Amino acid sequence: MTRQFEFNPAKVSTILDETWQHLTSAIETETHPWRLGQLATAAEGRPRVRTVVLRDVQPESRELICYTDRRSDKVSELEESPWIEWVTYDPITRVQIRLRGSATIHSDAARAAQHWQDSSPEHRRGYITVSAPGTKVDSAVSNLPDYLFDRLPNDEEAQLGFENFAVIVCRIEHLDWLQLRRNGHLAAQFLWTDKWEGHWKYA
Ligand SMILES: Cc1cc2nc3c(=O)[nH]c(=O)nc-3n(C[C@H](O)[C@H](O)[C@H](O)COP(=O)(O)O)c2cc1C
Repeated sequence: MTRQFEFNPAKVSTILDETWQHLTSAIETETHPWRLGQLATAAEGRPRVRTVVLRDVQPESRELICYTDRRSDKVSELEESPWIEWVTYDPITRVQIRLRGSATIHSDAARAAQHWQDSSPEHRRGYITVSAPGTKVDSAVSNLPDYLFDRLPNDEEAQLGFENFAVIVCRIEHLDWLQLRRNGHLAAQFLWTDKWEGHWKYA
């Protein structure tokens, strides 16, 4: 796999700009490794981590956005404690980023509805499930209702899924950048106060 995009370590501020650009391009690129991230939450003082799909990026407001089922454990964990960390690695540029901040959950018409409208029928089907995710079941069965086993939902059916749909908005205040290099790794760190401040650090 080849890609045009490279990081230019001439200035530390360039790395930050390129990181946000790279994240933005990952949303549109199915095969981009940064399209998947590991999102960590805290539950009763212990870490919980899972893979999520990066659905939207807003560099101006420092937001990474993913979707979830509002009945999932991560939602109740975030309602309890909003602190998150998001980590992802790209084996082409060999760059790992860790983004730390806090998350808010949106299932309201204002923010969730727009994302729902933009999503595909296949994506919407994933929210029309019989039981809440995590519910114990006696055998290896799908959580989809029988009538959706081999087809996509129509608009009316998809509306049922919207009731379970939630948007997780992660607002980032700390970003760690690490590039693995044969002749010595490079690392940088960025902290948001009222603007981004960044510096190189030893890897
Ligand atoms: C490749 C991949 C992508 C996933 N994307 C999402 C996602 O975007 N949102 C989500 O809620 N779960 C996603 N999952 C499932 C989560 O990793 C997790 O198993 C599920 O959400 C339950 O997590 P929780 O119990 O911590 O809430 C994905 C799993 C995989 C393997």
